[in-house]
Amino acid sequence: MEKIRNCLLDADKIRTAGEIIRAGGLVAFPTETVYGLGADALNGCAVKKIYEAKGRPSDNPLIVHIARFSDLEEIAAKLPPSAKCLSDAFWPGPLTMIVEKSEKVPYETTGGMDTVAVRMPSHPTALALIRESGGFVAAPSANASGRPSPTLAEHVADDLCGRIPMILDGGQVGIGLESTIVDLTEEVPMILRPGYITQEMLEEVIGEVRVDPGILADAGMQRPKAPGMKYKHYAPRADLVLVDGEETHVVEKINELTRRAGMTGRRAAVIGTDETCSRYRANVVVSIGARSDEEAIARHLYKILRDFDEMEIDVIYSESFATPKIGQAIMNRLLKAAGYQVIHV
Ligand code: TXA
Ligand code: MG
Repeated sequence: MEKIRNCLLDADKIRTAGEIIRAGGLVAFPTETVYGLGADALNGCAVKKIYEAKGRPSDNPLIVHIARFSDLEEIAAKLPPSAKCLSDAFWPGPLTMIVEKSEKVPYETTGGMDTVAVRMPSHPTALALIRESGGFVAAPSANASGRPSPTLAEHVADDLCGRIPMILDGGQVGIGLESTIVDLTEEVPMILRPGYITQEMLEEVIGEVRVDPGILADAGMQRPKAPGMKYKHYAPRADLVLVDGEETHVVEKINELTRRAGMTGRRAAVIGTDETCSRYRANVVVSIGARSDEEAIARHLYKILRDFDEMEIDVIYSESFATPKIGQAIMNRLLKAAGYQVIHV
């Protein structure tokens, strides 16, 4: 397997990667959100290889990545006016839109659905690769199914080494959480997955937007509309428990929980912040960043979960991070990873 760092500077490497994709192969590449595992979105056989490499259920549709707006018109059967408004406001960038698909898009790509998810990423390497690959690159996050999305090329290699011919290494990604998905086939556009682009940001451009009730913490048995959101994704090997409440109480509670874990011989770790870390007593304490810097929290989350998987940790206690903007996305991923175990203090 070939791994190439800073490929942006090397047009030849991107050309080679494009050739692999046009020939029906797979290439992992950086985007501004997380690393993607790309194949030619219009080639059903190529797309099947993505599902095999990741061990992904075949009913879980993929996002088609494009590099110009006119390509959205080619793969959509019809476009609501909101698509153009959102594209003008947020593309290229971390927003995925769901629209009705045209016949060009094979059902392998959409997991059998008549709609297609489309995104124009802003990462220059991703854009260059899409252009070299013929314009339509289907790409899920480049992790093995069930593991946190990769924010470093090393994470891709850890999960997919030997299963794919090439990884383009662009270093650490900028955002660290997957794109916001908005479904434009609903009468009122609906967020199926929260991300860096928030409900408020979308509403400023297209008016009322709802959030899929199936993804909220108290959803109970209601099924999320995005097939991928129903899986227990991002689950760390250790048991993860969130502790929510006023800072001093959270620190006290987590210290009590780690002490109790120690007494029963379980190895505990803590996810805290720059502000609180020195006050924790556990042997393993990691800061996710400063509480005031929600972008740092988003960027570090998946790496921390992966690092814990490498250690022999039995239980992780984490502060909760319902920060103003990306907070909904951070908490959505954390709650899923925790299997919704939250202690309120
Ligand atoms: O930031 C991102 O979106 C990254 C980068 C690589 O672009 N990609 C990504 O893809 O997160 P993936 O496959 O890991 O997540 C795609 C999500 C899944 O939950 C899937 O079920 C949902 O999008 N999805 C795709 N097409 C859909 C459709 N037609 N209707 C409903 N949900 C859809
Ligand atoms: Mg994924």
